[in-house]
Amino acid sequence: MDNFENKVVLITGGGTGIGKASASAFVALGAKVVITGRRQPVLKATAQELGPQAHYISSDVSKNGEPARIVEETIAKFGQLDVLVNNAGTGAMGPLSQTSDAEIQRIYQTNVFAPLALIREATPHLAKTKGAVINISSTMSHGVFPGSAVYSSSKAAGNHATRLLAAELGPMGIRVNAVAPGMTDTDISADVKSDEQILGMIIAQTPMGRLGKPEDIANAVIMLSSSRAGWITGQIVQAGGGLML
Ligand SMILES: NC(=O)c1ccc[n+]([C@@H]2O[C@H](COP(=O)([O-])OP(=O)(O)OC[C@H]3O[C@@H](n4cnc5c(N)ncnc54)[C@H](OP(=O)(O)O)[C@@H]3O)[C@@H](O)[C@H]2O)c1
Repeated sequence: MDNFENKVVLITGGGTGIGKASASAFVALGAKVVITGRRQPVLKATAQELGPQAHYISSDVSKNGEPARIVEETIAKFGQLDVLVNNAGTGAMGPLSQTSDAEIQRIYQTNVFAPLALIREATPHLAKTKGAVINISSTMSHGVFPGSAVYSSSKAAGNHATRLLAAELGPMGIRVNAVAPGMTDTDISADVKSDEQILGMIIAQTPMGRLGKPEDIANAVIMLSSSRAGWITGQIVQAGGGLML
C-alpha cells in the first residue's frame, strides 16, 4: 500500500467510527490529518490518540461558512491538501409523513450541502496536489428501504455529485470517488444493532456473514486515495461484505 508521508488528509466526522478509523489508517501510513466534528471533547480525545500528526477543528459542517473555514484552517495548519474525505453524515429513519422540515433540512445540509461546499473550497488546493476526494455514501443510496427516503436520497445525491464532479474536476487532475459502506458497527447504526430481528436480517443478507467494522471501510478509503487508484474516478465502491449485490 502507498505511503502517505508528506500528504495532508482532511476528514469530516473524524472523531468517531469510520472517520476515526480512516484517520488512524492514514496516520499509520505517514499522513498528517485534520479531523472535524461538532463534539470538541470527542475530537480532542481522538486527536490525542492519533498523536502529533493530527489536528482537530470543532465545526458543524451543516452551517453556512463552515466548509470554507475548515479548508482555510487546514491550509493554515499544514500548508496543503491532498485528500478530502467527506465522511460526516447524519440520518433518521421513519416515514416521510412524520419527518419535519427541520429534519429534512438538517440531513440534506449535512449530507449534501456540506460535501459540495467542501469540495468547492478544496478544489484550488487539490488541483495543486493532484489530490483526491472520497465521499462516504451508503448501500442505502441504491436500495429501496421504506422509511429511509430522506437519508437514502441524500446519499444518492452524493453518488451523482461524485460522478459529475469526477468529470468536472478530472481535467485538473483531481479524482472523485465514493465508498458506500454496508451496515457497519458504529454509533450511527446503534438503533439497528439493538433490534435483533433487523440485525439478523441484515447479516443474513450479507454474504460475508457479519457487520462491517470501521476498519473495513477505512481500508477502502485508503485504497481509493492511494496513487495505485490513480486511474479510478467517478466510482461508487461498495464496501458492505456483499450486502445489496
Ligand atoms: N455505520 C453504518 O452502518 C454506515 C453505513 C453506511 C454509511 N455510513 C456513513 O458513514 C459516515 C460515518 O458514519 P459512522 O458510521 O462512522 O457513524 P458515527 O460514528 O456516528 O460518525 C458520524 C460522524 O459525523 C459527525 N457529524 C455528524 N453531523 C455533523 C455535523 N453537522 N457537523 C460535523 N460533523 C458531523 C459526527 O460527529 P459530531 O456528532 O461530533 O458532530 C460523527 O463523528 C456517515 O456519512 C454515514 O452516513 C455509515
